[in-house]
Amino acid sequence: MSAPPAIPNLQIEPQRLWDSLMETAKIGATSKGGIKRLTLSDEDKRVRDWFRDACEALGCTIGIDEVGNMFATRAGRLDLPPICIGSHLDTQPSGGKFDGVLGVLAGLEVLRTLHAGDYQTNAPIMLVNWTNEEGSRFSPAMLASGVFAGVFTSEYAFTREDREGRRFGDELDRIGYRGGEKAGAREIGAMFELHIEQGPILEAEGKMIGVVTGVQGIRWFEVTVTGQDAHTGATPMRLRKNALLGAARIVEAVDAIALAHAPNAVGTVGLLENRPNSRNVVPGEVFFCVDFRHPDDAVLERMETDFRAALLRILEPLKLAFEEKRIWNSPAVKFAPELIECVEAGARKCGYASRRMVSGAGHDAAYIARIAPTTMVFVPCAGGLSHNELESTSFEECGAGAQVLLEAVLEYDKRFADEPNRAADGRRRH
Ligand code: GLV
Ligand code: MN
Ligand code: MN
Repeated sequence: MSAPPAIPNLQIEPQRLWDSLMETAKIGATSKGGIKRLTLSDEDKRVRDWFRDACEALGCTIGIDEVGNMFATRAGRLDLPPICIGSHLDTQPSGGKFDGVLGVLAGLEVLRTLHAGDYQTNAPIMLVNWTNEEGSRFSPAMLASGVFAGVFTSEYAFTREDREGRRFGDELDRIGYRGGEKAGAREIGAMFELHIEQGPILEAEGKMIGVVTGVQGIRWFEVTVTGQDAHTGATPMRLRKNALLGAARIVEAVDAIALAHAPNAVGTVGLLENRPNSRNVVPGEVFFCVDFRHPDDAVLERMETDFRAALLRILEPLKLAFEEKRIWNSPAVKFAPELIECVEAGARKCGYASRRMVSGAGHDAAYIARIAPTTMVFVPCAGGLSHNELESTSFEECGAGAQVLLEAVLEYDKRFADEPNRAADGRRRH
């Protein structure tokens, strides 16, 4: 048997990648240099149109599923389930230029490089823009990759509402991105997602590439604390039912619970609505969201128990009622060893220092790992800052990530090199 052909020396064009990052960053640009491109907003539609045009220009076949996930496929030599790359183009309300966007546009750069080099992979390569990764406008995060992977039903996604009561399904229709294809109907052979680290480790250690071995567990809760609206001047302290006071003490408790499970636990209240939010009304109702994360689901379970106990302990003495609901549980994920090795081989080939790490952030890859071998590639971001308009990953780091992504994909694709072309009879290898 002949040796498989060596991987060609294809080089991505960092300037072309950077230009795409900066061009699309204008869609939803904020005054501080970030992006506000909420899921299914007009800006999301504009960047989706841009993405579709760019992929069509490479001769890719475009597919859109019922929850708006976009797939651009470049045919391979063989009729195999595709090797998937990509991430998300939606952002936080005060998002940066790289979270998610880098993974999609570096994927586009991989396709452009293959196209320019006229190189045919063995397996097809499929670039994906997953809908609503951020979970900022519509909770939870990773919603549409979750539908794709069978974690949520499409009906669940369609009926998710933003804080103004607009539904995900209606907003999909409004921007024209509800596709005809059933989510999850198409196969994925493997998935590599490039992303910025969103934390400080790579920068601190002077390493260019993070080889991601998994994603920590995440649990989200929604809480409504109910007291009584009352006059701030005329209501004695002893008669008050101050919902904001109760919520403030819970915010403190969430922080304490995370610190009690140091060093790996984190806990945050990032969204809080105070009602009626008038300067001379004792607040009668507060709605807030809690985000707990830990790499070990057993510890996360203990944090949840501590949280429930804190709600009772703190709110009852303040004469406050509450409703609490866990709205999301994304268990810790372990990525596929054979893909992790491809990323390490890619980093080695490029001469970049790398280290293995667990992702602190949630990613679509976490759900896709349930249905296909999956891993991620991380590159540093300045000061570990993310979900911030000042988020910054350099020209060199973006280029390095894209090149390692390309190398990892080609390394994985090598395993199909010896497979003979098959008759196009629709049969597929699983
Ligand atoms: C997604 O950005 C998350 O980790 O919450
Ligand atoms: Mn992201
Ligand atoms: Mn994010």
